[in-house]
Amino acid sequence: MNIIKNIHLLEKEIKELKKNNKVIGLVPTMGNLHNGHIKLILLAKKYADVVIVSIFINPMQFNSLLDFKKYPKTFEQDCYILRKEKVEILFCPEINEIYPNGLKNNTYVDVPKLSNIIEGRARPGHFIGVTTIVCKLFNLIQPNFSFFGEKDYQQLLIIKKLVKELNYRIKIISLPTIRLPNGLAFSSRNKNLNSLEQKKAPYLYKTIEQACNIIVQNKGKKIQKTIDMSRQYLIKKGFYIDIFSVYNSKTLGPISKKSKSIIILASVWLGNTRLIDNKKITLKN
Ligand code: PAF
Repeated sequence: MNIIKNIHLLEKEIKELKKNNKVIGLVPTMGNLHNGHIKLILLAKKYADVVIVSIFINPMQFNSLLDFKKYPKTFEQDCYILRKEKVEILFCPEINEIYPNGLKNNTYVDVPKLSNIIEGRARPGHFIGVTTIVCKLFNLIQPNFSFFGEKDYQQLLIIKKLVKELNYRIKIISLPTIRLPNGLAFSSRNKNLNSLEQKKAPYLYKTIEQACNIIVQNKGKKIQKTIDMSRQYLIKKGFYIDIFSVYNSKTLGPISKKSKSIIILASVWLGNTRLIDNKKITLKN
C-alpha cells in the first residue's frame, strides 16, 4: 500500500492515475476502522480501479477540543486492515498539511439550511467542518466515486447536495448501516462505552425499529405518540436524548400527512458517548 502524507506527492500520484484513465474510488474516514468501513472499501473495489482511503481526524468538525482529543487513534491497526483489504493508496495527512494557516480563518464550505438543523443545531459548526474537508479531499483526489455510510444520514444528504450544487463530477454511493448481531451500529465511538453502556447501547436501535414497526402498523397515524413513548423508554434505560424524532427522509423537514418516505433520526448520549442511528419508513396510503 502506498502511504501518502503529503499533498504534493498525492497530486503527483493522482496525475499519473488520471493519465492512465484509472477510475478512482475514495473512501473518506477518520480512521479507527471497523466493519462499516471495510464494507465501504469492498463496495469501492467493485466500482473503481484504484481505491484511495483517507484517514484524517478533522479538527474542524469537532465541537470541543476534548471530543477531538478523545477520538480513538489506531493508525497501525488501521494500516493492517487496509493492507489486508488490499487498498492501493492511503492518504493520511497531518493537520498542518490540510490547514497550514490554522483553522480559524480557513476558507470554509457551508451547505445552508440542511447543515443547521437537527444534528447541526445540536453541534454548531460540525457540518461546516465536514463539508470543508470533504471538498478539500474531492479537489485533491478527484475521485469518480466516493463512498459514505447511511448511519450518518444527515451528513450523506448534505454531501449529495454539495456535490450537486458545486457541480462536482463525483458519484456518491451510500451503504446501509452495518450492525453487530445485537443491532448496534458499528461506530468508532463504541470504543468509548464502558461494559454497562455496551449492554445498554443496542436498545437504541431496538427502540427505533420498534417505533418504525408501530408507525407502519398504525399506517402513519399517532406518530407523535409513538415517538414520545420511545423517548420515555430510552430515558428509562439511561439514555440522554438529544434528538429522537421523525422527519421527511428527502428534505429532513417536518413530516406532513402526505409524507410517504419518512425517517427516524436519533442522537443520544450514553454516559459521555454520543451515539447516532436512524431507520427509514415507507408508508403506503
Ligand atoms: O464520516 C466521517 O467519518 C467524517 O465525517 C468524514 C466524512 C470522513 C469527514 O471527516
